[in-house]
Parts: sequence; structure tokens; C-alpha cells
Amino acid sequence: MSSTSSINELLSEESNFISNAANFSAYIFNNYENLNWVGFYMLSGDDLLLSVFQGKPACLRISLGKGVCGYSAINKKPIIVSDVNQFAGHIACDTASRSEIVIPIIKNDKLYGVLDIDSPIISRFNNADLEEFTNLLNILIENSDLEKIYDYYNA
Ligand code: SME
Repeated sequence: MSSTSSINELLSEESNFISNAANFSAYIFNNYENLNWVGFYMLSGDDLLLSVFQGKPACLRISLGKGVCGYSAINKKPIIVSDVNQFAGHIACDTASRSEIVIPIIKNDKLYGVLDIDSPIISRFNNADLEEFTNLLNILIENSDLEKIYDYYNA
């Protein structure tokens, strides 16, 4: 079964973002090679606040504009980092992380958070990975109640 079919099957019956994001993280973490962290940071005021993930414990809050996640969020653009040690201001939650891809969660031009995927090998991610993960993330976005989760993180 393709990843698109699998993610559709996992998420199509539920609109709760946290539940869907938990299954999304687990699916990516267990079905793609050479990953050490997969998870979400959600917009909470001027921070990105740790949400559901797979991997080692991670930093709780990231200010917009800080780190790879904060850079992607404030620019509303995805980023592929081939070598995190070459990214000024990289935040090393897991010292095993060597490369990273971050994709903002955006719907109707509104930022809700980011998807962060780390790898223990250099240059793990390319544009084909970005397209595939973006397509899968769009399934999560379309199946989840993002306004409800925004209100929860910004109460
Ligand atoms: N590396 C990220 C921080 C999140 S941990 O990797 C889960 C960053 O620089 O924003």
C-alpha cells in the first residue's frame, strides 16, 4: 500500500488534529529509513510549542525565527538542511540529528505550526522527500480541525 493510501486510511475517520498527528508521526517514523525524530511544533503566541512526536525528548518552546523550525515558521516556507552543523542557530534537541527537513503547517495562508523530521545521517533529505512529505502533510491538514487546535494552543 502507498504512503498516501496508508495516511488516508489512518486519518480519514478522525478530525482531531492531535490524534491524527500522533498517528502521522508514528507512520512516518516507522516507515521511512534513517530518521531519529518526527514531530510537530504548534504555534502558541510568538513561540512554537512542542506537540506530538516520535523520538527522544525535545525542547519545549522555540521562538519564531529561532532554529530551523522557527526559520521555516516565520518565513512560511519549507527548508531542507543537509548538515545541521552548518545551519547557524540550529537547535540540537537530539545530538544524533545530522540533517533536517521542516515543513510549515499552513491553511488559507494562516500558520498553525511545523512538521519537523530529523535524520542521523548527512543529506538525508532531497526535493523528492519534500514533495512526498508535503503531500502527506496536506492529507493531515485537510482531515483535521486546525482552528480548534489553534484555539487550544492560543487560549
Ligand atoms: N532542530 C530544530 C529543533 C527541534 S528538535 O530537532 C526536535 C530546530 O533547530 O529548530
